[in-house]
Amino acid sequence: MPVSTPSARPHVEQLGFDEARREHEALGREIAEHDRRYYEDDAPTISDAEYDALRRRYEEIEAQFPELRTPESLSEKVGARASDKFAKIRHRVPMLSLANAFSDEAIEEFVARIRRFLQLPSDKPLVLTAEPKIDGLSLSLRYERGSLVTAATRGDGTEGEDVTANVRTIGEIPQRLRAADVPEICEVRGEVYLSHDAFAAINERQSEAGKPLFANPRNAAAGSLRQLDPRITASRPLKFFAYSWGEMSSLPRRTQFEMIACFAAWGFKTNPLTRRCSTVEELLAHYRFIEAERAQLGYDIDGVVYKVDDLSLQERLGFVSRSPRWALAHKFPAQNATTVLEGIEINVGRTGSLNPLARLKPVTVGGVVVSNATLHNEDYIRGIGSDGQPIRNGVDIRIGDTVIVQRAGDVIPKVLDVVLERRPPDSKPYEFPTQCPACGSHAVREVNPRTGKEDSVRRCTGGLICPAQARERLKHFVSRYAFDIEGLGEQRIEEFYSEGLVTRPQDIFTLQSRNSRALQRLEKREGWGETSVKNLFAAIEARRRLPLSRFIYALGIPHVGETSAKLLARHFGSFDALRQTACAASDRDSEAFAELTSIGGIGRVVGDAIVEFFKETHNEEMLDALLSEVTPEPEESQAAKNSPVAGKTVVFTGSLEQMTREEAKAMAERLGAKVAGSVSKKTDLIVAGPGAGSKLDKARELGIKILDEDGWFELVGRS
Ligand code: IVH
Repeated sequence: MPVSTPSARPHVEQLGFDEARREHEALGREIAEHDRRYYEDDAPTISDAEYDALRRRYEEIEAQFPELRTPESLSEKVGARASDKFAKIRHRVPMLSLANAFSDEAIEEFVARIRRFLQLPSDKPLVLTAEPKIDGLSLSLRYERGSLVTAATRGDGTEGEDVTANVRTIGEIPQRLRAADVPEICEVRGEVYLSHDAFAAINERQSEAGKPLFANPRNAAAGSLRQLDPRITASRPLKFFAYSWGEMSSLPRRTQFEMIACFAAWGFKTNPLTRRCSTVEELLAHYRFIEAERAQLGYDIDGVVYKVDDLSLQERLGFVSRSPRWALAHKFPAQNATTVLEGIEINVGRTGSLNPLARLKPVTVGGVVVSNATLHNEDYIRGIGSDGQPIRNGVDIRIGDTVIVQRAGDVIPKVLDVVLERRPPDSKPYEFPTQCPACGSHAVREVNPRTGKEDSVRRCTGGLICPAQARERLKHFVSRYAFDIEGLGEQRIEEFYSEGLVTRPQDIFTLQSRNSRALQRLEKREGWGETSVKNLFAAIEARRRLPLSRFIYALGIPHVGETSAKLLARHFGSFDALRQTACAASDRDSEAFAELTSIGGIGRVVGDAIVEFFKETHNEEMLDALLSEVTPEPEESQAAKNSPVAGKTVVFTGSLEQMTREEAKAMAERLGAKVAGSVSKKTDLIVAGPGAGSKLDKARELGIKILDEDGWFELVGRS
């Protein structure tokens, strides 16, 4: 790629908008290419000064034409690009995320759910802690015999980046823990963040140096921590609050609150607004208190986190998917801004849904520039809610309207309302397309045969001939919780797809062999180098074996998310078994369909979707081709590996006294067992409490092993 000298270019003030847009776009590409050469290939082709000049010019154009500064702009992506450079660290205990709630009712429900799960009577107190949710990035610090040995970012929760060298420069993080009660292995977790003052100072310096500005303190903290040069991290006053932990060879305290106090005694900063609360009212009162303090804190928070205080209860409650059942983030309400709707773009999703996207005049909402927002679906634009009731008093949304945009945390911004007084007199209602913009096929709204209701989503009927659907499916296939192939993100998929190099999942795995014969090999193309191609092929090779649940999830079967994929993987154990049952289940009265929908969490809708997926001939062909390239492997959790009930089918019956039914089920599943609702020849074990009736009789009849609750705990231990 030619490197142009910015000095030869006209003054930014002299540029017309179109000219500026073109140059901004070209510069963006050029800078991205230099970033890649520098960071991925370790082979920069221009000097630092030349690179800085390019970036300065890019920034100058954005300063002159702020509408060019979209979320896609390079200036918004600072900090993310260095990631390939860090070694990976596997978290011995996964770093989880928190479920979110936005209303007082949701908090009541959260506490009620915990009480139900634990069968805690209403007169027994349940203590929870409440503390600010810091808007930074989480970090896991591992101490061995009191010395800091590694520091890792969260990453995907299982594997993060090794940022130890940088973390050693953070004054608020102790290098050594000297207290007598520090466990031999001790992983302290918390949030790295920047104060508002530090953020302003960093941006000031960035601006003086002609470097891009950070959009918010969180991005600045991430950019500062993920620096290749620890001296840069050292120059940024990063701070840290400890609020949780990972692996611990022994737990020094028995409650959340005391653990945090213990961290404080060991020399960590802990949040002074952490309180213990015993009722929902107290939780909500503390939430309001923190909300009122928010503006004075001097750092960003985006909600309040509630956690069950008693650690033995936390353990009993366990996890669902990626979040603990014992904790919840109560988020602050979203932030709004007013801007103009300049256009409506229709994107075609993986399942053919026509998704309307608002193109907005860029506007800052809570520190982030927003130029796109979701419009949900056709009805939403027309002013009809999903329940058929009018929304916004039935006011429709038109191009040219002044609209209110809302951004809540990390969720995609949405168009909330229309400022009707500012509607241009000549505006017309928006006509939603009835043809797919990607392939021209009819786009229809299906009628649900069971409810007789029209689906709110209009879908392209093009199926596999629709390039947009195919592309989206590929993107899903390689996404984080699916195949997660490093170096093969959405952009690369777009590129490969448009060139016809990868149009189906199986093509990914033949890319290397085809490349060696190709006339224009990847490494010769613009934007590629020997190293990046080598790394990509290595990443693809590494994914020829992967956990079954990831494989199932990657297929993109409608309604089959991560959790259902895990349930299916656990139930069937192998892809063949799932496929056989799904194929046999096309008769909805069959035993196979009954088996499929008897798996807890897999209902009729999901069952139908699975059957339809496997019925489709194109999918069969794709699966055959894919399975000749990759091997899905049954996965077992750490707990399940050593468990005496792994792979066994267990039935709980009668009234249980030491745990609730839900808890028993969660426990058995954690230990790798399948839990069934009825006794059959496939049952391996029945746990019967007092009052067990016909199921117990049947188990006796079939000679199935029977245990009471004590027997169960003796078998599996009290974990
Ligand atoms: S507890 C197992 N406490 O929120 C629970 N998280 O959505 C571990 N966060 O990745 C998290 N402040 O980065 C916890 N006081 C706090 C927090 C907090 C911020 C972040 C953290 C985590 C995310 C979860």
